[in-house]
Amino acid sequence: MKQKKLISRGGDLALVLAAVTVGIGMAFAAPSLTVPSPASASAPVSSRVGTVYAKRAAVPTPAPDAALQARLDADKAAGHASTAADEEMLHGAYLARAGDCIACHTAKGGTPYAGGLPLGSPIGTMYSTNITPDKDHGIGTWSYDDFATLMRTGVTKAGYTVYPAMPYPSYSRLSDADMHALYTYFMNVVPASAQANRENGIPWPLSMRWPLRFWRMFFAPTPTPFAAPAGMDADVARGAYLVEGLGHCSSCHTPRAVTMQEKTLTDDDSHLFLSGGGAVDGWIAPSLRNENGGGLAGWTQADIVTFLKSGRNEHTASFGAMNDVVVDSMQYMSDSDLNAMAKYLMTLKPLHPDAPAFAYDNTAATALMAGQPGSAGATLYLDRCAACHRANGTAWGTAFPALAGNPVLQTNDGTSAIHIILSGGSQPATAQQPSSLTMAPYAQILNDQQVADITSFIQTSWGNHGGTVTAADVAKVRKTATPVDMPGQPDMRHAEPGQGANAQASGTAGGE
Ligand code: HEC
Ligand code: HEC
Ligand code: HEC
Repeated sequence: MKQKKLISRGGDLALVLAAVTVGIGMAFAAPSLTVPSPASASAPVSSRVGTVYAKRAAVPTPAPDAALQARLDADKAAGHASTAADEEMLHGAYLARAGDCIACHTAKGGTPYAGGLPLGSPIGTMYSTNITPDKDHGIGTWSYDDFATLMRTGVTKAGYTVYPAMPYPSYSRLSDADMHALYTYFMNVVPASAQANRENGIPWPLSMRWPLRFWRMFFAPTPTPFAAPAGMDADVARGAYLVEGLGHCSSCHTPRAVTMQEKTLTDDDSHLFLSGGGAVDGWIAPSLRNENGGGLAGWTQADIVTFLKSGRNEHTASFGAMNDVVVDSMQYMSDSDLNAMAKYLMTLKPLHPDAPAFAYDNTAATALMAGQPGSAGATLYLDRCAACHRANGTAWGTAFPALAGNPVLQTNDGTSAIHIILSGGSQPATAQQPSSLTMAPYAQILNDQQVADITSFIQTSWGNHGGTVTAADVAKVRKTATPVDMPGQPDMRHAEPGQGANAQASGTAGGE
């Protein structure tokens, strides 16, 4: 009798554990419920990984590296050779950019690395922490081993496990030398900030951290520094190291299980790695594999490099979460590292080898140019969109993205296309492409059926292989889509549908 009770208690415990683990998993794995409002700095940002990227303005957060660089330049001018310690700090600064630590560990408009960025999830809001070398509020008392342990296993100096919103399963790939350079940078270059950490707003029982330990035991792999498979080209290996490790590209671009772990952390036989990760803040992170139907087939190595560096190329323009990856991280990478990453991505075999390749078809363009659009969606497109994207769907260079052949429009999931039509979008401003062209929001101008008609039209015209969408699909996205800021335009964010059409967005009929 006694024994039975014990067993049943063990069973209860296992059930609670399973429920909480799955609960936390679902909280992160579920598509986002709220989208950040650019109007309020304190509104939590939501995503399936608890990841951020609210800074819709797509302007880089300045890192405290300039002072270091200035000091080294002055030393050099004075004839002093830089020391090994200086070189290591500089290297650490570069690695911090590659890992995009600043994006998550800086509140909107806040002190770099002082934490406090709200990360929304359906179970509550958590806040990133202060990782400046402040002894009371940051990591100033952490030894190198404390730091490396956190980065590889998610276990803090205080002994608890962090939420996997911190992408430690990826960072565990770092080499010892790079880990040390990163630590040296944070300890010696980043100014200490006495900003206190904020209490997480996650209610009990999901606020309990002990299940995270089990999550880690079940789902986070034993940390293994990256080792290139035998025979791998040296550039490809460098690319794999950056993509799998610091770049943590898979945290958005790899599908997750219901318990939140990425289904795989490296390119294995499953071909799931980077095969597309679902919605982040209501934007789909597509496949980065060399495949048709929304992947990177048809892109050259140079196309990938150009996209990562400037957020645009002749196939697409970046938006949503990817804007911040470009402006805060990728634009700072060296050309040789960007080329290595691109070369590596091009080696990834397709998950869907049977997906047809894009081939341009001029039927839609001919009809539009003859003034015979033939469907409600085509008529609306001509009226509202063709001024910038053109009747032939090829747009104008990299100023406006081409819609013909655009990977965003090659899948059955119209979420990203619907979202950008409703909320508009701003291209990221980078050193290479400082101008940031904006597409205005249509949420107040077009109803659900109209947006569905246009989306279906652009996903199935010019040879695009995407699917059609319904008004119900649009209604779902509309609940969370927040229109972009339009400088010099009336604030449309709180307007009722039908209030004031936006001249800049509406274009002119037959804009060919
Ligand atoms: C996608 C968002 C994200 C990125 C990118 C990120 N972090 Fe974190 N990090 C977090 C969150 C969220 C926490 C707190 C988790 C918690 O409270 O359980 C955290 C916690 C930490 C901690 C523990 C601090 C403490 O006080 O306990 C350290 C150290 C840390 N991160 C360092 C880094 C470094 C270094 C990088 C870049 C290489 C980085 N993080 C990139 C989200 C991120
Ligand atoms: C004023 C010019 C302009 C007009 C008019 C315009 N767009 Fe755009 N469009 C852009 C710009 C600029 C971007 C890139 C935005 C970004 O990167 O966030 C874009 C991006 C897009 C994208 C995402 C493609 C990608 O790779 O980033 C889609 C889909 C799209 N537009 C569809 C439409 C539709 C449909 C209409 C009409 C309802 C329309 N656009 C009207 C300028 C325009
Ligand atoms: C925080 C989530 C996030 C992270 C981290 C992230 N991405 Fe993205 N990425 C996205 C989203 C969302 C899109 C879709 C929007 C777009 O096309 O710009 C995207 C789009 C892209 C595209 C364009 C693909 C296409 O079909 O148009 C490329 C290339 C890309 N990402 C590469 C990378 C690489 C390389 C990394 C790692 C260094 C990375 N991403 C990290 C979210 C992310």
